[in-house]
Amino acid sequence: MKRYGVHPTQPAAPLQVTDFEPAPLGDSQVAVAIKAVSLNFRDLLVSQNTYFCPIPDGLVPCSDGAGEVVAVGKDVRSLKVGDRVATLFFPDWQGGRPEPSSVSGARGAESGGTLTERFVSDETGVIKLPDRLSYAEAATLPCAAVTAWNSLFEVSDLKPGQTVLLLGTGGVSIFALQFAKAAGAQVIITSSDDAKLARARQLGADHGINYKTHPDWEREVLRLTAGRGVDVVIEVGGPGTLERSLASVRMGGRIAYIGVLTGLGAQANPVALIPKAASIHGIFVGSRAMFADMLDAMATHGIKPVIDREFAFAEAPAALAHMQSGGHFGKIVIRVGS
Ligand SMILES: NC(=O)c1ccc[n+]([C@@H]2O[C@H](COP(=O)([O-])OP(=O)(O)OC[C@H]3O[C@@H](n4cnc5c(N)ncnc54)[C@H](OP(=O)(O)O)[C@@H]3O)[C@@H](O)[C@H]2O)c1
Repeated sequence: MKRYGVHPTQPAAPLQVTDFEPAPLGDSQVAVAIKAVSLNFRDLLVSQNTYFCPIPDGLVPCSDGAGEVVAVGKDVRSLKVGDRVATLFFPDWQGGRPEPSSVSGARGAESGGTLTERFVSDETGVIKLPDRLSYAEAATLPCAAVTAWNSLFEVSDLKPGQTVLLLGTGGVSIFALQFAKAAGAQVIITSSDDAKLARARQLGADHGINYKTHPDWEREVLRLTAGRGVDVVIEVGGPGTLERSLASVRMGGRIAYIGVLTGLGAQANPVALIPKAASIHGIFVGSRAMFADMLDAMATHGIKPVIDREFAFAEAPAALAHMQSGGHFGKIVIRVGS
């Protein structure tokens, strides 16, 4: 069997493949032959050891995978050999509010990840998949899609007719675009690239703003909303974008604070929230219950993930480099196994 390990101290080759023997299966565990893995921006941070937790040398990276159950422990009841499953980002966050005990053990950072031919999990740490999704499509869901779902519908309670602002055309933003349009919302999306904005419009975006040619893009947002601002911001940037998101959000609106694309520091002054009676809510992916609700909604609305490009298992370092280039639109997938 083959798997990748991250080696942050070797920046020239942060991902290296090794052979391994799968450990014996525990009574409540399942073994999954991973068929596809998707990359998230955090996998870049993990490979550089700049993520929220220290990354041990050799850790198996990536939180997102989908595959086939090939063995089950003797106490496993909910799954059988042959079932198609995806991994949960937080294997212990089954539902309800986040708690320190459940929002821990994040895959591909605090515990071993999915960039491996054989993945072992407690039966509760994976979720069964509908037949309508391919393994590549399903592998895009555990982090970016659940994060977008949580931000729009759990934390923000988005209503039809409201307006959502999305920053850039990466994985989280494109899922948020698809979900917000299915929910009957208006979408304003930004990008550094007019061709990507055109693709976003084809997916239903109502307005696109090039943040390179409009560095003061919050002015465009206010113009497009007749000065009112947006109901929800999916804030994936950080320093430099959060100030503009604060200017873009409407009175009583919500900023779902998700990302660190521009860094982990802070420049924004939260006092701007007071006269707007607005709020910023931190997001940390989501639970199995959110994942299940999201799968139902995707089936109802016929939503398919947008895959930018698929790479072979041997090309995983090139896939990570593609993510770092920022040239992608939606999700990057690595095929695993035969
Ligand atoms: N808190 C959580 O639970 C959670 C979960 C998932 C992701 N995240 C975070 O959310 C962020 C996005 O993740 P992702 O996986 O969707 O990333 P991604 O797919 O790599 O998205 C990258 C895209 O973001 C856009 N971008 C980059 N810098 C920007 C800027 N200054 N202003 C506006 N857009 C910018 C670019 O889009 P264009 O090419 O169109 O310009 C770029 O292609 C990351 O920081 C990630 O760590 C957090």
